[in-house]
Amino acid sequence: MDLIHKFLNLVAPSFTFFSFVFLLPPIYFFNFFLSILRSVFSENLAGKVVVITGASSGIGEHLAYEYGRRGARLALTARREKSLQEIADRARDLGSPDVIVIRADVSKVDDCRRLVEETVNHFGRLDHLVNNAGINTVCMFEDAPPDMSLFRAIMDTNFWGSVYTTRFAVPHLKTSKGKIVVMSSAASWMNDPRTSVYNASKAALTAFFDTLRIELGSEVKITIVTPGFIESEITQGKFLQRDGNMEVQQDMRDVQVSSIPVGSASGCAQAIVNSASKGDRYLTQPSWFRVTYLWKLFFPELVEWSYRLSHFSRPGAPHQQAPSKKILDFTGLKNVVYPSSIQSPEIKTD
Ligand SMILES: NC(=O)c1ccc[n+]([C@@H]2O[C@H](COP(=O)([O-])OP(=O)(O)OC[C@H]3O[C@@H](n4cnc5c(N)ncnc54)[C@H](OP(=O)(O)O)[C@@H]3O)[C@@H](O)[C@H]2O)c1
Repeated sequence: MDLIHKFLNLVAPSFTFFSFVFLLPPIYFFNFFLSILRSVFSENLAGKVVVITGASSGIGEHLAYEYGRRGARLALTARREKSLQEIADRARDLGSPDVIVIRADVSKVDDCRRLVEETVNHFGRLDHLVNNAGINTVCMFEDAPPDMSLFRAIMDTNFWGSVYTTRFAVPHLKTSKGKIVVMSSAASWMNDPRTSVYNASKAALTAFFDTLRIELGSEVKITIVTPGFIESEITQGKFLQRDGNMEVQQDMRDVQVSSIPVGSASGCAQAIVNSASKGDRYLTQPSWFRVTYLWKLFFPELVEWSYRLSHFSRPGAPHQQAPSKKILDFTGLKNVVYPSSIQSPEIKTD
């Protein structure tokens, strides 16, 4: 057995190198050709039934407007019902023929079952499931409460919420040859400090839905979205606290986001709906953020050093003194790289 592994240690790298050299150009050309075909024959969404989780703010809210504009019928879900009703009204004004609102907490398996059942009972079918609901917490691993409740809450919403809802939606999506959109994150590879469990939840989503794509084959297409920074309540600084409440911490947001440009939620939603309609496997938005994957792949040490140098203040100093925030404050870049919507600490309440 050892001999086989020694042989593979020698052969596998060179085989891979030559395969890359020969296969990359034709595969890139083929994919380019396919993407043109997919754009031409992109799905017409008029009358299609779309469930969006986490539709009460941010990217999910703008997905409701974008799907609505294209004539899709919508089931909007989240916990803040009043916000959902207002968004439903606007989606109708923009062109959606029918919108229902379902109050649901995706961290609860029964709510996920109910939101799919209510949608199918009302519309008779399901074409797109958008797993968008998500929360973030900003906390060093060693500072987390020892019972791990803070970290489990992130996994329960971000990972399990998407998995539960998908479990109940798949039979209906198979019937309609439908699609799943999954909101992962560039944080699944750019592992910024203080968000270890958020980053892990997003990496878990990517691994889970990449596997599910193989299991479901062509019956249900899956688009995994990996946004960089996009305007929303999360980039306003809304983070889950140790006591289980959500609180806006804009200082901490400044440390984490620093002077990286934040993309618009409407542009992100438009790109997501385009990608899902074409049946793309992956989408990163803003698209320039894709280069960060290469930095992480080829220079992981450099990425780690940058985070350590920029995101931490001197021992004993408050986090507001981290270089990442000082650069933002000193240059006045906040007004340039942050949309005005995320400069205010006001978030919607129900
Ligand atoms: N903004 C970014 O830069 C960025 C980057 C990468 C990935 N993402 C991902 O994009 C997705 C959307 O987030 P966002 O940035 O648009 O933030 P957001 O404005 O805070 O929206 C999050 C949505 O999720 C809902 N939600 C949270 N917990 C829920 C639960 N237990 N059950 C049901 N709904 C729940 C919230 O509604 P209620 O509070 O009313 O329930 C809200 O509608 C998230 O998965 C996030 O991780 C965002």
